Amino acid sequence: PGAPRINPSILSADFVNMQADLERIATADFVHVDVMDNHFVPNLTFGPQMVQRIQETSPVPLDVHLMITDANRWAPGYAELGAASVTFHLEASHDPVALARRLRGIGARAGVAIKPGTPADALYEHLHEFDQILVMTVEPGFGGQSFMPEMMPKLRALAEEARRVGAPVWFQVDGGISESTIAQAAEAGADTFVAGSAVFGAADIDVAIADLRALAAE
Ligand code: DX5
Ligand code: ZN
Repeated sequence: PGAPRINPSILSADFVNMQADLERIATADFVHVDVMDNHFVPNLTFGPQMVQRIQETSPVPLDVHLMITDANRWAPGYAELGAASVTFHLEASHDPVALARRLRGIGARAGVAIKPGTPADALYEHLHEFDQILVMTVEPGFGGQSFMPEMMPKLRALAEEARRVGAPVWFQVDGGISESTIAQAAEAGADTFVAGSAVFGAADIDVAIADLRALAAE
């Protein structure tokens, strides 16, 4: 496996100083962009117009995490505006395989996310259809929540199966990732780490990103 990827979540950024905060995470691998519709999750962030400007401004590629209902209708637009990856929720898609193919066809990496209460069973037969799988380690909706270690068996089983069938899928974790939790997620099979408060709350963001990367690589 290559170096672990660290994707800071701009949910913890300053929304009226977004350009400055994007420049502060230039040493990250991707910027994680949380789109919430106040329907799939009980919180609201922004939509395609804002993501378009982030795309035009960010020094690093965009990793869009859609926490919105009716994913098949809305996700392709985020791929069309140039996001490197677009991750939709399995619970919000009536046809996840068709949507993943559509996202790939537009040129984005296709990602699927599962909430803590959602079993991974439905993904096992389609591991080659996705470029990344996001195992949520908190209930989606808010930054600053506590990491759920009980998600590690689900992550480990998925990662082992992907290795067994030779699917080159990235495994992402999101929620409560910090210097004290990242190693156990890496050990369970994650290679891509979303961190909001642990990055934007740090005294030195470059140091925080480097420390997280080092702890995940151990
Ligand atoms: C939560 C979002 C996360 C959030 C993580 O629903 O998907 O990306 O920003 O924040 P932390 O790292 O603070 O748990
Ligand atoms: Zn997220």
